Amino acid sequence: MEVQVPLLQTHVEGLDRALGGGIPVGSTVLVAGTPGTMKTSLILWVMHENARTNGVKSLYVSLEQDMDSLKAGAARMGMGNLHESSVYVLDLGQLRKGLHRAETTKDWFTILIEIVKEAVSSSGYQVLAIDSLEALYALSDLKSPRREMFHLLGAVKELGLTTFLITETPFGSTRLAQWGEDFLADGILHLKQVEVGETDVQLRLRCVKMRWMNHDHNALVLNHDGRHFFVTHVISKKK
Ligand SMILES: Nc1ncnc2c1ncn2[C@@H]1O[C@H](COP(=O)(O)OP(=O)(O)OP(=O)(O)O)[C@@H](O)[C@H]1O
Ligand SMILES: [Mg+2]
Repeated sequence: MEVQVPLLQTHVEGLDRALGGGIPVGSTVLVAGTPGTMKTSLILWVMHENARTNGVKSLYVSLEQDMDSLKAGAARMGMGNLHESSVYVLDLGQLRKGLHRAETTKDWFTILIEIVKEAVSSSGYQVLAIDSLEALYALSDLKSPRREMFHLLGAVKELGLTTFLITETPFGSTRLAQWGEDFLADGILHLKQVEVGETDVQLRLRCVKMRWMNHDHNALVLNHDGRHFFVTHVISKKK
């Protein structure tokens, strides 16, 4: 018997079908990619569209880019109305301002879990993004990164959140993640720039894994036309 799981749609045209319907609600999804592969824009889009179509509320924790720059980028990509009430962007500056208590004794993983718990209970967020894991690691003095990550993922799962963990893959690296996050996560979306011919570069998206879903494993081309995101099939030049 097929088990029906509630799904969060990405609202990227063509992608939900490729995923087998969407992303199972409550999943933790690693969004891995080299610099400039639209990791931030893509996840903001998922949040923006879920707010617009279903009133879903999301929390975007931005540990690198500040809120104004993030919003300006989003506006240029057809997300002019990134309302705080539905997509709340929390940047490092705001996080630091909010840390009045004796937070110096705590590590950033603990602080983040506490802030997320508080925000979920007071504002009812259903979707969370952490951008990026590398920035979180840089802030924290980790003794046991894999255990910390296991604990963080357990905490967001307990809250029922669908979570996107943005991770930066260095150019040329064959590893998607540093500390086994790729094994711990329920899903992996991998973004990659691929040279096509001598001059063109294509942005490709591949769902490497998505637990519980019978998804397409092939790479798709991720496009943005100034208004919306859509995926198309890679046209193979092989005969
Ligand atoms: N309308 C558009 N169509 C195609 N590409 C765009 C468009 N608007 C912005 N871009 C490109 O998207 C990239 C930035 O996207 P974004 O910041 O989401 O990527 P990122 O993967 O989060 O980057 P970083 O690694 O710096 O965090 C830029 O390289 C920019 O040129
Ligand atoms: Mg980014």
